[in-house]
Amino acid sequence: MASKVLLIAATLPRVLAWGPLGHETVALVATEFVLPETRAFFREILGDNSSTDYLAAVASWADDWKRTDEGAFSYTYHFIDALDEPPTSCNVDIERDCGETGCVVSARANYTTRLVQSELNREEREIAAKLVIHFSGDIGQPLHCENLARGGNDITVTFDGEATNLHSVLGYNIPEAITNGSTRADAHAWAAYLISAIKAGPYRCKTRNWVAGLRVDDIEDVALRWARESNEDICTVVMQDGAEVLEVGDLAGEHTEEAKGTVNLQIAKHGYRLAKLLDAISQAQ
Ligand SMILES: *[C@@H]1O[C@H](CO)[C@@H](O)[C@H](O)[C@H]1NC(C)=O
Ligand SMILES: *[C@@H]1O[C@H](CO)[C@@H](O)[C@H](O)[C@H]1NC(C)=O
Ligand SMILES: *[C@@H]1O[C@H](CO)[C@@H](O)[C@H](O)[C@H]1NC(C)=O
Ligand SMILES: [Zn+2]
Repeated sequence: MASKVLLIAATLPRVLAWGPLGHETVALVATEFVLPETRAFFREILGDNSSTDYLAAVASWADDWKRTDEGAFSYTYHFIDALDEPPTSCNVDIERDCGETGCVVSARANYTTRLVQSELNREEREIAAKLVIHFSGDIGQPLHCENLARGGNDITVTFDGEATNLHSVLGYNIPEAITNGSTRADAHAWAAYLISAIKAGPYRCKTRNWVAGLRVDDIEDVALRWARESNEDICTVVMQDGAEVLEVGDLAGEHTEEAKGTVNLQIAKHGYRLAKLLDAISQAQ
């Protein structure tokens, strides 16, 4: 099972962020913390009154859509290529890094603003909702906020004996190492663990800080701040000793153990943030 997943992961093209497991877990954490009226509001937009997984079910949709003719324009919306110099210096500069075709910071702001506007039609609102949910996960993926080696896609590494790249290891292999699988049920188990850490564990006293300053009318600033935090992880955790050392040895052992805490934190934090963002959107109607 594990090696099959790895083989698939190794052949994936760039920019898959978190795989479905990570995106679904962000959405499931958010599902736990949204207000009842937010739940009704997004169920209506998403046309899903029955499933408890109404957010998780659409959390990875954007990664398929960007490969269709209709959604191709959204390809660069999934990341921001920070032109910094890790591990010496990490930073995201919106003017320098966002690019002419848009980036995850501008796109998440755009679709948040669009959701608050009443003149969109049903289909446009549904797309905007799916994109806000998805990009909230991408912003929390450190390698989506980094340009170096195409967000780590060109850093060849070994994971559990299989050749792959750094982007896949952070997006797929480490999440799967945390949960021991990649199914929706594994996402539920992971989300349950993170939700308890938020409600009664080590994250409890942090949540207020996580969502400080969140406002729908200043949303690009908020997205930029969150992207900077993710980018900072590149210098402090993901490649704190540079990219070269990651290319020797196997990342499945010590590196994965060291990165698990950061991956857990990013998924929990961005799930909680997504809940509060969705609350703010629904309250701004
Ligand atoms: C979902 O339920 C709400 C409230 O009961 C209702 O107004 C709405 O039409 C329903 N939407 C769908 C897609 O069934
Ligand atoms: C905002 O989203 C709309 C709808 O997809 C798109 O046409 C527009 O170009 C986007 N604007 C920006 C600044 O990304
Ligand atoms: C995954 O497996 C490890 C080792 O067997 C175990 O310690 C851990 O609790 C499991 N994780 C989950 C989420 O079940
Ligand atoms: Zn994505």
